[in-house]
Amino acid sequence: MSDFDLVVIGGGPGGYVAAIRAAQLGMRVACVEGRGALGGTCLNVGCIPSKALLTSSGKYAELSHLSTHGVSVGEATLDLGAMMARKDKIVGDLTKGIGFLFKKNGVELIEGWASIPAAGQVSVSSDEGTQTLSAKNILIATGSEPTSLPGVEIDEEHILSSTGALSLGSVPEHLVVIGAGVIGLELGQVWSRLGSKVTVVEYLDRILPGNDGEIAKLAQRALSKRGLKFQLGRKLTGIEKTDAGLALSLERVGKGKQEALEADKVLVAIGRRPVIRGLGLEALGITQDSRGFIEVGADFQTSVPGIYAIGDCVPGPMLAHKAEEDGVACVETLAGLSGHVDYGKVPGVVYTDPEVASVGATEEALKEAGTDYISGKFAFMANSRARSSGETDGAVKVLAAQDGTLLGAHICGAHGGDLIAELVLAMTKGATITEIAQTCHAHPAMAEAVKEACLDALGHAIHA
Ligand code: NAI
Repeated sequence: MSDFDLVVIGGGPGGYVAAIRAAQLGMRVACVEGRGALGGTCLNVGCIPSKALLTSSGKYAELSHLSTHGVSVGEATLDLGAMMARKDKIVGDLTKGIGFLFKKNGVELIEGWASIPAAGQVSVSSDEGTQTLSAKNILIATGSEPTSLPGVEIDEEHILSSTGALSLGSVPEHLVVIGAGVIGLELGQVWSRLGSKVTVVEYLDRILPGNDGEIAKLAQRALSKRGLKFQLGRKLTGIEKTDAGLALSLERVGKGKQEALEADKVLVAIGRRPVIRGLGLEALGITQDSRGFIEVGADFQTSVPGIYAIGDCVPGPMLAHKAEEDGVACVETLAGLSGHVDYGKVPGVVYTDPEVASVGATEEALKEAGTDYISGKFAFMANSRARSSGETDGAVKVLAAQDGTLLGAHICGAHGGDLIAELVLAMTKGATITEIAQTCHAHPAMAEAVKEACLDALGHAIHA
């Protein structure tokens, strides 16, 4: 008999949620984690610390325009050490919380780095030595790590990944961010609010690739208004350390023209790659795609029976909540239930001010596929709650089939990350834009903009 029914490798949102769900379903479960803390990238050096800093820096920035509310305060001063300590405490408390959930559900935590010498076996190395566990099934949930550019070495002192940018000891004078994706914009805004000049360099001629273009333009306008500088259509070709700081070489994409830019810190945020090294995948014959992601079937099984993979290390959106869904669906399927994830309805949120939230198809994707669609839009400028709060930037945009079935929804605006939930539920349950428009929304509320965008698509918005 095996030591465990399931050994999960990795204690991030994919792995720890899968481990707990599997234990709830009656399996004997162990979770192997080498980082010394549960929660993975998301909790330790990703979603959670970045949201803590976004909130703290947002409060600092807000103080400068409280006078428009008739409130005067003295000049705000920044205690960066206290801000970082608050972030670290939130992270520490939440990671301990997962340890508590493991105990409550009977999941055994095994600390160390895992490899898979053969199907049915997991070897775990730590300072205490190496042990081998036998497992009926193995689930790889090892996540992802920041990637860099050839010749650009991340030292976390001058050239940073998201990890370094979450723990700076002082506010940089000029932070150059490479990549106008989620990480670049969120962390760029944190440091911009705390006083840095922030320049975002992006290869493409737009920000937030993958998001709806019209909504991304609204976000760029709003972020520029709040101080971020954008240099689009530029490729980073090299960084040199100088006495003054860092000298960046950029190339105008398609034009070949060279440009120079100076910075005291650079954040490289050009994407992430799966963490698979040291697991022994090649020797096992587990197939990977050309970018290194582990290939899995609909049941998350790899090319080797009994070995499964979920989350950032398999193809698909690299999002904590997608990894959780994968994990639950995988172990429910293992337990004989019908686990399933609908990847067309996974929301994505960028937690800048304003937030950018989306679900389903973009307008560009519908056009490219030749899909017949109708669209509706409602600007927060015409929403009375947004006006009262002074959060009028952005809009809600809905895209629907001719019969009203929602195909996609995109929001740029305050609380967009919460507002999108209604539209995700509507898509999941097959609700039409007519049904959303017929749903009573409280007044005054930002959510009325969702209803009005649906009414606009139907041709009869009230407040536009
Ligand atoms: P990303 O893929 O979102 O954006 C990378 C950007 O870098 C792209 O716009 C790309 O065109 C640009 N780029 C690539 N090479 C470049 C070059 N040589 N010069 C200039 N620009 C270049 O990647 P990011 O922001 O690093 O995020 C990684 C992953 O983490 C994403 O999958 C994201 O979804 C996830 N994440 C999600 C968060 C959330 O849900 N709020 C927060 C943070 C990360």
